[in-house]
Amino acid sequence: MKVRRLLYGLVIICCVFSCKHKEGEYHSLNEKIEEESKKYHGTDISSESYIGDINTIEITEGDHTFLIPERKSQIKSYACIECHSKPLSTMQNGSEIQKAHWDIKLNHANENAMNCASCHNGNDMNNLNSLTGNNIDFNNSYQLCAQCHSSQFEDWKGGAHGKNIGGWSTPRAAMTCVNCHNPHAPQIASKWPVRFSTKKEKQRE
Ligand code: HEC
Ligand code: HEC
Ligand code: HEC
Ligand code: HEC
Repeated sequence: MKVRRLLYGLVIICCVFSCKHKEGEYHSLNEKIEEESKKYHGTDISSESYIGDINTIEITEGDHTFLIPERKSQIKSYACIECHSKPLSTMQNGSEIQKAHWDIKLNHANENAMNCASCHNGNDMNNLNSLTGNNIDFNNSYQLCAQCHSSQFEDWKGGAHGKNIGGWSTPRAAMTCVNCHNPHAPQIASKWPVRFSTKKEKQRE
């Protein structure tokens, strides 16, 4: 009996030692966490499969470098210069009915504070126009929004506002402001929470 107990004891001690040995493969707890989490943190899942055929451009803002969808190829009436090759005043015929962009109704900020010229420059329609009169490329329109919505911009850079494409898999890709907000009417309509009931039909009777 005693011999058997001794044997059990030995087996247990061996186990403990071999486990200890494995733990020793890492020099610190941080190293262990980093190594062990490699299999979970998307190193083998790329965001590329989520991006699909969306054209992206790489941007760097502060400490953050990531991809956003390219816009110009998505804008119906781009290049603007195809029509806007002469001063706006000579193009306007004064008729409200025949407006070229009749389908665009501005519903953003107070109309005393904002009109078309707040964002578009009649002398260079192919680019967006900053409040100080500088050009902003249509692909970087988030810079236009950032002038007035700096807190959402800060959140967006870090990934807290908006949405990453393919979660946190690398390379990081994020939707840009105009993917979700129409710049001419940016409010997102509120929705009622979904309360689906299979008894709905009956209740209505
Ligand atoms: C097919 C021709 C055409 C294209 C393409 C076009 N525009 Fe225009 N746009 C016009 C005409 C014509 C006017 C003159 C005023 C009017 O008819 O409303 C105008 C007027 C405007 C105005 C002034 C509106 C106002 O009420 O004062 C803005 C701003 C504008 N365009 C922006 C753009 C931008 C930005 C693009 C490109 C993304 C673009 N346009 C592309 C034809 C065009
Ligand atoms: C707050 C800034 C802002 C204001 C104000 C604004 N726009 Fe724009 N506009 C944009 C941005 C940004 C885009 C590009 C959106 C995108 O990437 O799809 C755009 C796109 C356009 C386009 C191209 C749309 C298309 O799908 O072909 C036209 C035309 C245009 N604007 C005309 C106007 C006119 C006319 C006004 C005034 C009634 C106006 N915009 C006011 C920011 C603005
Ligand atoms: C010149 C300043 C200015 C610029 C540029 C600007 N905005 Fe705004 N925006 C405002 C103001 C002012 C309001 C209305 C007040 C408010 O609700 O904050 C507003 C309202 C909004 C709202 C609705 C807020 C709500 O409470 O529902 C959204 C969303 C928004 N803007 C997005 C954008 C996006 C996207 C762009 C860039 C394409 C942009 N804005 C560019 C000034 C600006
Ligand atoms: C993936 C979609 C998405 C992207 C990208 C996005 N937003 Fe939004 N944004 C939303 C939604 C949804 C809301 C509404 C939140 C709510 O009603 O509570 C919102 C709300 C807002 C508001 C209203 C105030 C608030 O925080 O509720 C502003 C202003 C705004 N966004 C600006 C921006 C700007 C500027 C950018 C780019 C730097 C941006 N958004 C990018 C989806 C987006």
